[in-house]
Amino acid sequence: MHANSRPVTSNQFSIHDQLHGLIERHAKSRYLRPIADHSRRGFDTAITAWQAAGSRPLIIDAGCGVGLSTLKLAQRHPDRYVIGIDQSADRLARKLHWETDVPSNHLLVRADLVDFWRLMLEQAIYPSHHYLLYPNPWPKKSQLLRRWHGHPVFPALLALGGQIECRSNWKIYIEEFASAVTQLTGVPVSCENLPSEADALSPFEQKYRASGHALWRCQLQLPARIASASRLGES
Ligand SMILES: C[S@@+](CC[C@H](N)C(=O)[O-])C[C@H]1O[C@@H](n2cnc3c(N)ncnc32)[C@H](O)[C@@H]1O
Repeated sequence: MHANSRPVTSNQFSIHDQLHGLIERHAKSRYLRPIADHSRRGFDTAITAWQAAGSRPLIIDAGCGVGLSTLKLAQRHPDRYVIGIDQSADRLARKLHWETDVPSNHLLVRADLVDFWRLMLEQAIYPSHHYLLYPNPWPKKSQLLRRWHGHPVFPALLALGGQIECRSNWKIYIEEFASAVTQLTGVPVSCENLPSEADALSPFEQKYRASGHALWRCQLQLPARIASASRLGES
């Protein structure tokens, strides 16, 4: 693992001044982009495998990259089922340099999360946990809409309920994420320093730690999904 990752630089120095207006607009509207065929295929494959494994409590590893975190989460939680989702076929194909002791309670699928989350909501499949590990920070001020909390799909993610953990090496990303959750759900959430773990959960975490970056996270338990869904305008 290379220790040469540069810290995030940005022309934005605090929570984006348009974040709250944007969140309000997204909460009031319904996001209607058609679901891509490949996402639907990935979703069907994943849900069929999860059901065949007994429909255990479900962990979503959103943007799993090469899938190392999916594997580690499956090892840490043998009583649960972990679905790792990434849009990059190339990253998913690199998954297995870890051929031994691979637990059966996980699966990696290719799909766009923007579709996957909405399909879960449509089919009333509610995960117990979501991990969003080191999403691309899109740190330019003009890139707010590309961050998960600035994307119109964000209310659908929150309407799924469960526990969410988001990690980043850009503090402002986590501060914005936490603030957006609180705005939409009323749940108080804070940004905290990620304690140093001997075993990094993902390759980006390994790389950032090796490069000496401070790492940040927020953890939250969403309210019961029905309450949250009605508040977030789910039909
Ligand atoms: C910076 S990487 C982090 C990978 C991994 N979570 C880690 O910590 O090592 C972000 C990942 O999110 C994936 N991603 C970004 N947007 C996505 C989307 N809309 N749907 C699915 N995956 C997405 C990218 O393909 C990439 O693998």
